[in-house]
Amino acid sequence: DLKETWKDVDAYFNDELKVSDEVTNSILKKNEEAGLPPIEVAATHGKMLFLLAKMSGAGSILEIGTHGGYSTVWLARALPKDGLMATLEVSDQHADIAEDNIRNAGFEDQVTVIRGPALESLPKLLERGYPRFDFIFIDANKDGYPEYLEEALNVSTTGTVIVADNVVRQGRVIDPDSGEKSVPHIRKFIDMLSENDEIETTVIQTVGRKGYDGFLLGRVK
Ligand code: DHB
Ligand code: MG
Repeated sequence: DLKETWKDVDAYFNDELKVSDEVTNSILKKNEEAGLPPIEVAATHGKMLFLLAKMSGAGSILEIGTHGGYSTVWLARALPKDGLMATLEVSDQHADIAEDNIRNAGFEDQVTVIRGPALESLPKLLERGYPRFDFIFIDANKDGYPEYLEEALNVSTTGTVIVADNVVRQGRVIDPDSGEKSVPHIRKFIDMLSENDEIETTVIQTVGRKGYDGFLLGRVK
């Protein structure tokens, strides 16, 4: 069926373009062994995040929602040698695993896992000495997306790229009867972007290993 085709095509490009590698594969394995839910971005999409961050020339990256550090490492690879990254994680267990994975990937000097609810960490980033971020990836609890966007914009500047995962949810984003709890929050997030003249946005729908979903892409004017 179509879903099998999506997986097979994802695997074809992953293999053919040598997208995943020992380091990223070992993170997936570690996360699975630790019992984390297998909700990491696909390798092909991790590589996309890397490319977007690199194409934008980002020297500072913020991630909201670390999970086990998989997308974190993809993004950290895009940083220049003097670049830095902060990634926000509410679960201590996830943060412990992520720190291990970040260290094993060699990014412990550039990437800081900031523990606690993102809504508590976000307003303190600038006073902690972080610069306004060049690239922000939102991939945390979906009911927090509207507030994460507001806080993300507070630490953005002209040219900041904002990417958010999971804005399509198998197409349920346009189905008022889906019962999917995240949808009203995702739709509020989209409404806020729609009403904001200071950011240019689009969505790219995705299929693959994780089924049908999509990324919001934006750039602050
Ligand atoms: C879920 C969260 C994610 O970030 C994702 O990519 C897929 C699923 C979830 O919480 O169900
Ligand atoms: Mg996600």
